[in-house]
Amino acid sequence: MNAAVTTLHVGMLGCGVVGSNVARLLQEDSGDFAARSGANLKLSKVAVKNINAKRDFVPNEILTTDANSVVSDPNIQIVIEVMGGIEPARELILTAIKNGKSIITANKALLALHGGELFDAADKNGVDLYYEAAVGGAIPILRPMRESIVGDHVHRVMGIVNGTTNYILTKMDEEGSAFSDVLKEAQSLGFAEADPTADIEGHDAAAKAAILAGLAFHTRVSSSDVHCEGISKLTARDVEVARDMNHVIKLLAIAELTADNRVSVRVHPTLVSRQHPLASVRNAFNAVFIEAESAGELMFYGRGAGGAPTASAVLGDLIAVARNKTRGVEGHGETDYADLAIAPIDDVNSRYLIRVEVADKPGVLATVAQLFASSNVSIETVRQTGRGDSAELIVATHSAPEKALNKTVAALSQSDVVKSVESVLRILGSGK
Ligand code: HSE
Repeated sequence: MNAAVTTLHVGMLGCGVVGSNVARLLQEDSGDFAARSGANLKLSKVAVKNINAKRDFVPNEILTTDANSVVSDPNIQIVIEVMGGIEPARELILTAIKNGKSIITANKALLALHGGELFDAADKNGVDLYYEAAVGGAIPILRPMRESIVGDHVHRVMGIVNGTTNYILTKMDEEGSAFSDVLKEAQSLGFAEADPTADIEGHDAAAKAAILAGLAFHTRVSSSDVHCEGISKLTARDVEVARDMNHVIKLLAIAELTADNRVSVRVHPTLVSRQHPLASVRNAFNAVFIEAESAGELMFYGRGAGGAPTASAVLGDLIAVARNKTRGVEGHGETDYADLAIAPIDDVNSRYLIRVEVADKPGVLATVAQLFASSNVSIETVRQTGRGDSAELIVATHSAPEKALNKTVAALSQSDVVKSVESVLRILGSGK
């Protein structure tokens, strides 16, 4: 039995949906947390924008609008950052680190943009920087990557890491609805933000992809290294065609090693076979699927957002950091020794599904096939549906480099027999 002997003072930056759940659970479960960590965890100061907002679990006397007073308070040993955004979060975290405080953050955008600077500062000052809540909300994924599979070689990580887009895609798949209708419904139900850009254009998933890639390949990866395409251009027809092929469209964050040992990091809608475990991840749930040399395939599944689920990850980090402090040790920092190059999207191989509207007359299929052949893109299947004078051609390719595919699409767009290129989507392949 561990008796708690010390008190660790905790400061918090921000007290929104996640922060208020952290405060609630710290109060409700303080006895358990003390027994588990070996220290009483006392929330001593919380920086907020609006001091008058009603908060059930945070006494008024610990609230402040001066965030600097939290990161420079000599009594505070651990700072939880749940305010989000880049500045002033970055500046405040750096100041806290310089003042010897360990950090717990849920800020994926900040880590994907300035992770290197923050990890270096934490290393230099001998403090912990934990961030389990930044990817996959409640899902324990970053610590397993940092610790449990660090003795393995990861080949590929694929995540459904954005709940809003997974909710929209699930509805489009199951109800045949149009993107804009589901988005409106999701907004009215509170599942999607009033400004949904970061979610639907893939930026939120791209930040998470950068973090996953960095951990998988021991290389610094930033959000600018991530090729990013969102779901706003997907149509009900795209989803229907995928369904006819026994596939479902998911917004995947993919980090993989290329054949020449570079790192490819990307976010894009992807046709996933319904046999694949990721296809079963519905609604706002998240999942991360890892392919590693010795472990084989692993999947981590759970709630990727929301106050209590995200607070669960923050509190796990808090207890881990508190355990380190009570033992006078630091947790492991980041490893970036591999320093692999990032492969541009043009060099990445994928299978594709191209949908074109063509004139329905003799020789058209042969012309289209020739355009694929002349860019060295090999066709796997072709399906044609007549529509009066026109026909829809649905071409699935074997794996080909993106630049060859782009050349094919440019040639199709200019061809006399092609009325329009309706969509170009990637199909999930088997990886390395
Ligand atoms: N907005 C994100 C989502 C959660 O929809 O999953 C925070 O990253």
